Amino acid sequence: MSIEISHLTHLYNEGTAMERKALDDVNLTINDGEFVAIIGHTGSGKSTLIQHLNALMKPTGGKILLDGEDINKDKTKLKSIRQKIGLVFQYPEHQLFEMTIFKDVCYGPKNMGLNDADVEKAAKEALDLVGLDESFYDKSPFELSGGQKRRAAIAGILAMKPRVLVLDEPTAGVDPRGRNEIFDAINHMHHETGITVILVSHSMEDVAKYADRIIVMNQGRVALTGTPREVFSRVSLLEEIGLAAPQTSYVMKGLSDKGYSVAQDIYTVDEATEVLYDLLKQVKK
Ligand SMILES: Nc1ncnc2c1ncn2[C@@H]1O[C@H](COP(=O)(O)OP(=O)(O)OP(=O)(O)O)[C@@H](O)[C@H]1O
Ligand SMILES: [Mg+2]
Repeated sequence: MSIEISHLTHLYNEGTAMERKALDDVNLTINDGEFVAIIGHTGSGKSTLIQHLNALMKPTGGKILLDGEDINKDKTKLKSIRQKIGLVFQYPEHQLFEMTIFKDVCYGPKNMGLNDADVEKAAKEALDLVGLDESFYDKSPFELSGGQKRRAAIAGILAMKPRVLVLDEPTAGVDPRGRNEIFDAINHMHHETGITVILVSHSMEDVAKYADRIIVMNQGRVALTGTPREVFSRVSLLEEIGLAAPQTSYVMKGLSDKGYSVAQDIYTVDEATEVLYDLLKQVKK
């Protein structure tokens, strides 16, 4: 399922003294099966952009095409569009409301009109994909850690079998362990199902590790797009717009400034570990 965003503009409070241009002529194509990360300074338009993807907002100008079809053209198709594009809001666990995790994950597929057996099957598959086994099924959301709750909420969307999963800051407010669990779950699910993932994140390290492509937003516009390597090589542009490359690349630059010969395009902790290990071996000799 390809998504084409064409000349998308969004004004909040149009025509009032409070008018604010949140999106300004955004053009993007997101291909089937891609893992795309959207990064940008606070207020750059990330949340506004992703809410347009399942027609929660109406463009002031421009369009969103889903497999070539304008999603705002025919209101009768909205329900089906929202099922195909699953949107996980920030702090999705606030919307967990059933007594048990299993019931909560069943809610979406039940609403879609599936029979009981299919609802249960969909819920089990979704919980399995986010790494919550049967021991969690009868637990109340209150018994879970932050990371587990977040994964349960993501499972609730996955159970509706969307073709595209859109997540707004899925690790906000979660401790480092929970963060790794969430990212590993999203990555696992992406590989298992081939689902398209569009993820808004502040963490350069996580984005470098998982995304095929990064979209950098600045003041409602797309400032830069490319592979993590391409994007993080533009350090001065990133710094100009209030962002930074992953910390590991600054470590490499620091070492290079001190005369050590190390690669400069190192963006993940795993890559940096290898480089530092090799360097230590040479220094020891
Ligand atoms: N409901 C709203 N009414 C008016 N202005 C809004 C509304 N929501 C967002 N804005 C404004 O639109 C711009 C883009 O906001 P948006 O929430 O899309 O940014 P963001 O990149 O998601 O930021 P953050 O990283 O803080 O979540 C900001 O200037 C924001 O103040
Ligand atoms: Mg936001």
